[in-house]
Amino acid sequence: MNAVASVLPAEPLVFRSARMARVVELARRVASSDANVLLAGESGTGKGILARFIHDQSPRRGAPFVTIACANIPAGLLESELFGHEKGAFTGATERRVGRFEQADGGTILIDGVSELAPGLQGKLLRVLQEKAFERLAGTRTLRVDVRVLASTQAPLEEVVARGEFRADLFYRLNVVCIEIPPLRDRMEDLPVLVEHILRGIAQQRGGAPRRLAQAALHRLLRHDWPGNVRELRNVVEGAAIVAEDGDIPARALRLGRPAGSGGGPGAGLLADAGDRRLTLAELEERYIREVLRLAGGNRSQAARILGINRKTLLEKRKRYGIP
Ligand SMILES: Nc1ncnc2c1ncn2[C@@H]1O[C@H](COP(=O)(O)OP(=O)(O)OP(=O)(O)O)[C@@H](O)[C@H]1O
Ligand SMILES: [Mg+2]
Repeated sequence: MNAVASVLPAEPLVFRSARMARVVELARRVASSDANVLLAGESGTGKGILARFIHDQSPRRGAPFVTIACANIPAGLLESELFGHEKGAFTGATERRVGRFEQADGGTILIDGVSELAPGLQGKLLRVLQEKAFERLAGTRTLRVDVRVLASTQAPLEEVVARGEFRADLFYRLNVVCIEIPPLRDRMEDLPVLVEHILRGIAQQRGGAPRRLAQAALHRLLRHDWPGNVRELRNVVEGAAIVAEDGDIPARALRLGRPAGSGGGPGAGLLADAGDRRLTLAELEERYIREVLRLAGGNRSQAARILGINRKTLLEKRKRYGIP
């Protein structure tokens, strides 16, 4: 099933800014080596697509490219996803399972959201990096693989290390090369070409010529600050292309969140809601967490990042306030 990851066609990387040109040049240079690479950047900046680019530019391009998203897999299942298990390893393990490291043999693995790895798994990952060896869960045989490891993180990993939540030795192993992808708002020269690329993709799917944005629409996109980066841009442009009638896509078809600094961001209105007394700090915190979770569409990793806390802390706070 993870073979799917390796047969997905590579997506072109689109950019115009000098900052992205430097990022892509660095990626191209490290691709030919076997160095572990840490890809850092906000949500939606293109860490996944850049990882795929590195694999495709590397001598491993003919072998599998396998991704594992740490945040999406329950902690209890992650170890078996990474390393596999033998039949009977735990209740429900009715079959042997080949883990992603084995699937990626000869190729590249992307450990997406590596900052979310539980301490126990951090140790196991370190061992794979050092010895290229591991055992399946409940397995007695030591398996050896030849896998290049790329890892991505939204949270600055040094800070997670400084908080004592990520092993420093693992950090140094992963961080042989670090590529930081700047947020879209810091490279707005990329926006017009990205919009064209997105509209071209829609036209390819549906047939017909690519649509265009009206000038006013493009100007609105250029004024937005894109907290969700290229993913948010894609959602906005695809949504607009659906609702807009024929002709150039007008500004009113764009559904943008409020730009930062307009006073309308998350948390706005909290004080206004206080009624005849001031909110306590705990009430404010609860309301703010609920609001950010709502804005993040229930995505807890993203909510935690916005709140500047880790997922464990968010979980504790949700329990304390009874937030589902
Ligand atoms: N330079 C780019 N050219 C073309 N498409 C891009 C580019 N950067 C990002 N995208 C597109 O934006 C979306 C988000 O990119 P991607 O999934 O790589 O982000 P990410 O940094 O891995 O996000 P997350 O942290 O949420 O995992 C994808 O649809 C991707 O194809
Ligand atoms: Mg990603």
